[in-house]
Amino acid sequence: MRFFSSASARMALLASVVSSAAVQAGNSTYYNPVLPGWHSDPSCTQVDGTFFCVTSTFISFPGLPVYASKDLVNWKLISHAWNRESQLPGISWNTTGQQQGMYAATIRYRDERFYVICEYLGTPRGDIGVLFKSDDPFSDEAWSDPVTFPVEKIDPDLFWDDDGKTYVATQGIILQEIDLETGEVSQPPISLWNGTGGVWPEGPHLYKKDGWYYLMIAEGGTQMDHSITIARSRNLTGPYEAYENNPILTNRGTDEYFQTVGHGDLFQDANGNWWGMALATRSGPEFEIYPMGREAVLFPVTWEEGEWPVLQPVRGKMSGWALPPTNRDIPGDGPFNSDPDVYDFAEGTAIPRNLVYWRVPRDGAFSVTSKGLQIIPSRNNLTGTPYSTTTPELSGQQGLSFIGRRQTDTLFSFSVDLTFAPRQVGQEAGVTVFLTQVNHIDLGVVLLTKSSNSTCASRRRREAKTHLALRFRAEGLPESRTVGVPEEWLDGPIRLHIETANATHYNLAAAPAADPYARILVGTASAGLMSGGNGSFVGSLVGAYATCNGAGAGVVCPEGGEAYLTRWRYSGAGQYISETEVV
Ligand SMILES: *[C@@H]1O[C@H](CO)[C@@H](O)[C@H](O)[C@H]1NC(C)=O
Ligand SMILES: *[C@@H]1O[C@H](CO)[C@@H](O)[C@H](O)[C@H]1NC(C)=O
Ligand SMILES: *[C@@H]1O[C@H](CO)[C@@H](O)[C@H](O)[C@H]1NC(C)=O
Ligand SMILES: *[C@@H]1O[C@H](CO)[C@@H](O)[C@H](O)[C@H]1NC(C)=O
Ligand SMILES: *[C@@H]1O[C@H](CO)[C@@H](O)[C@H](O)[C@H]1NC(C)=O
Ligand SMILES: *[C@@H]1O[C@H](CO)[C@@H](O)[C@H](O)[C@H]1NC(C)=O
Ligand SMILES: *[C@@H]1O[C@H](CO)[C@@H](O)[C@H](O)[C@H]1NC(C)=O
Ligand SMILES: *[C@@H]1O[C@H](CO)[C@@H](O)[C@H](O)[C@H]1NC(C)=O
Repeated sequence: MRFFSSASARMALLASVVSSAAVQAGNSTYYNPVLPGWHSDPSCTQVDGTFFCVTSTFISFPGLPVYASKDLVNWKLISHAWNRESQLPGISWNTTGQQQGMYAATIRYRDERFYVICEYLGTPRGDIGVLFKSDDPFSDEAWSDPVTFPVEKIDPDLFWDDDGKTYVATQGIILQEIDLETGEVSQPPISLWNGTGGVWPEGPHLYKKDGWYYLMIAEGGTQMDHSITIARSRNLTGPYEAYENNPILTNRGTDEYFQTVGHGDLFQDANGNWWGMALATRSGPEFEIYPMGREAVLFPVTWEEGEWPVLQPVRGKMSGWALPPTNRDIPGDGPFNSDPDVYDFAEGTAIPRNLVYWRVPRDGAFSVTSKGLQIIPSRNNLTGTPYSTTTPELSGQQGLSFIGRRQTDTLFSFSVDLTFAPRQVGQEAGVTVFLTQVNHIDLGVVLLTKSSNSTCASRRRREAKTHLALRFRAEGLPESRTVGVPEEWLDGPIRLHIETANATHYNLAAAPAADPYARILVGTASAGLMSGGNGSFVGSLVGAYATCNGAGAGVVCPEGGEAYLTRWRYSGAGQYISETEVV
């Protein structure tokens, strides 16, 4: 059986994509999404020829990734605006919902300083506005503790008027003046525009151009009716006149592969050409299987003096303004979003910056040791008991020992070598495709009680009452599948694989690291389990976990059961840009 796709073919394709996006005399061709994988609500700006974008992260941590690019196609992860517990003490663990946390942000630059304004949903005090500042967006540490501000509605924009006053516009669409030092906002909010009648007028961004204030918003909700509409006024506070050709961007009512297009931001390149980024879902009109959720797409914009902007419809293959020349010379030690992971976790190295957790991890849960990346198990398994307030140690709120990276390709291969010597029944470590605590597909190595009919115990464990098993299970699938770990695998690490069988299915497999060809396919699951439902705002992550499945007390597992990861590999094997085309 062969379910590895050809990595070398992928590399050749990548090379051709890169060269077609390179310097050209006329307009350029490129492929969407430019920021593939779970990247919703992009907001972007350009400073001295470098583009900066931020996207939503909900309860994953670190949150609010900042990506930088010089060519609009190669996006490097340069920092996270929310990167330390001390920036918002206690907030992460006190957030119950799977889709609360850091909602849509706006990134702006003014007077040598970067600002990321956002809202954190679901604290015990309700939702709070957060404003992070930095003089160096290439550094995590340089992002300030946030100035917090009271909020009524989500999706804050940040806008400076010519008189230097600063405003925040939010869903509704309403406007308030904001004090950037204290977070004080003016009351009452001023209603600017209610949109053209679609539900949820939100995601506002204000721009001033040619004597007009332009108010661009998202409407119709973030699913199949999503759209971008615009209005303008000579005065900031209105009245705003809606454009007669609204919506200016949408794929609703079409049979396009890219659906849910909306919630965008506009910016200029160094040559003065306008561009926009928005979110889109590669779901096709069926809207059934789209595990990567909402991704970030780039579109050219024509915006002539005194006129309304014209946004080019979002497709997989785009043609528009000449892209800036290909240039990956960007500071910082984060990876480019579309690059493969090749991580060996050598002692003394840092945990790679594109790996994220589900809420703030417990102190010491993840560390790079001489044996690889050590994961101290959590009492919570990946499901825990979400939304429980009575047993918070099993809600995942006080730490879930999970670490993962975005699925950034329709087709991919992920594997990691696991060294794991559990001592107690129920101790487990493995790999997972994870959307939320109620949507995940797992392949764990777990110590189980040996049942009388068990045929899988090893000779050396023949007298033992336990046996080590490979257990495949998925939230949403009624049955799990358990296969004994063959005896000859027990001496070294086990290589666990997650691969796409095709655009709609994942295969989860295992092999002894020493003999990769002895691979066993343990389970197959539909990516439909990872699409929408309880995880409609988020996108799939692939990664590893360790748990004692609720044993122990408080937040501590019984002794043993640490997992050690080495040879972490992720590589893309194909991007669908339409129902039938793969690049
Ligand atoms: C988080 O919850 C704990 C207990 O539930 C409480 O003591 C703490 O003050 C809360 N932190 C915040 C920031 O609300
Ligand atoms: C928007 O709708 C609200 C509620 O109906 C109304 O109070 C407000 O005046 C409207 N705003 C505008 C600008 O029309
Ligand atoms: C803009 O506001 C000023 C007062 O601030 C007012 O005189 C003017 O009429 C307004 N213009 C429009 C188009 O509403
Ligand atoms: C180049 O791209 C811009 C922006 O999309 C578009 O307005 C223009 O028509 C294109 N020019 C050609 C020659 O295709
Ligand atoms: C073991 O026996 C039980 C009960 O007869 C049965 O349900 C189960 O499938 C058996 N397991 C294996 C691995 O044969
Ligand atoms: C995708 O892979 C799954 C699992 O191997 C298989 O059941 C399904 O038929 C495949 N779909 C297509 C369209 O080939
Ligand atoms: C998940 O979705 C199902 C179906 O909509 C719902 O019944 C369930 O309560 C949700 N679970 C959580 C944890 O939100
Ligand atoms: C996950 O842990 C809970 C206890 O926290 C337990 O009830 C549940 O059975 C565990 N799930 C699995 C598949 O072991």
